[in-house]
Amino acid sequence: MSIEVIRDLRGLHSAIARHRNGPLNTAASLAIVPTMGAIHEGHEALVIEAKRNANIVLATIFVNPMQFGANEDLDKYPKSEIEDIKRLEDKGCDIVYIPSTETIYPDGFDLTINVPKLSSVLCGKERKNHFQGVATVVAKLLLQSGADYAIFGEKDYQQLLIITSLVRDLDIPCQIIPVNTVRDSNGLAISSRNQYLSSKQVDIANNINLVMNEAAKNFYNIDISETISSIKKNLGNAGIDKIDYIEIRNSHNLENTSNNDKSNARLFIAVYIDEVRLIDNIKL
Ligand code: PAJ
Repeated sequence: MSIEVIRDLRGLHSAIARHRNGPLNTAASLAIVPTMGAIHEGHEALVIEAKRNANIVLATIFVNPMQFGANEDLDKYPKSEIEDIKRLEDKGCDIVYIPSTETIYPDGFDLTINVPKLSSVLCGKERKNHFQGVATVVAKLLLQSGADYAIFGEKDYQQLLIITSLVRDLDIPCQIIPVNTVRDSNGLAISSRNQYLSSKQVDIANNINLVMNEAAKNFYNIDISETISSIKKNLGNAGIDKIDYIEIRNSHNLENTSNNDKSNARLFIAVYIDEVRLIDNIKL
């Protein structure tokens, strides 16, 4: 069956109702895959995981203005709706919801959801209010769809934890399912931002994962400060010296890891290659 493209809330509700009571004739389960479009292999892996868990797969494409800062160019976010729909359909997505800004934030909209502790570190430190925007839109999408499952990538690990936390605290009856970061053949985490890199810059970016894996090998034998300084040095040698953060934190709560307790440690990195900000994280 071909994918249904829906742009408003009433349409979404009726499409879901139709699918839920469709040929399966049972209470079919629904998985949601929220995206901002510019669909790539990372998003496709989420759709595949959604299909493994639920009868119906709903992807959403919404470039959420609330999660962009004043100096981050919302209008420049890559848009490729026709290709996106095709790629989602090819992976077996049943419905794609592409709401307008007014559908998500109607006149008079006055709500922000804040997950303060998890949002105060790493990507939330410099990008003030970014995660409030993410939390608010994701809560809306989960409630609008009534999905049983929601699939998110570990590529945005902090986002995944924030969403898991908000779903728990708001008692939203939806199970969050994480998916490993999808990488290209050189280990570079796939991102819509990679398209802004020249081929020379891609060669440089390929070092991020190499350097991280190297650090993982020695992590349990040396002090955390040594790990961080060798990552910094190795990134510098690879031509990456504009670093937003290199941090090692606990995978469950993002608290700092200490030399005495390295359990559940995860390495988080954000760097700039020219103006392009790239993030990555791995379990240590
Ligand atoms: P977007 O950047 O489009 O990402 C949508 C989903 O794809 C997120 O769950 C993200 O973690 C996942 N993803 C992106 N690249 C990936 C990769 N290489 N491997 C695995 N998963 C990957 O994240 C957002 O949109 C927005 O903040 C959103 C959650 C949609 C809210 O607006």
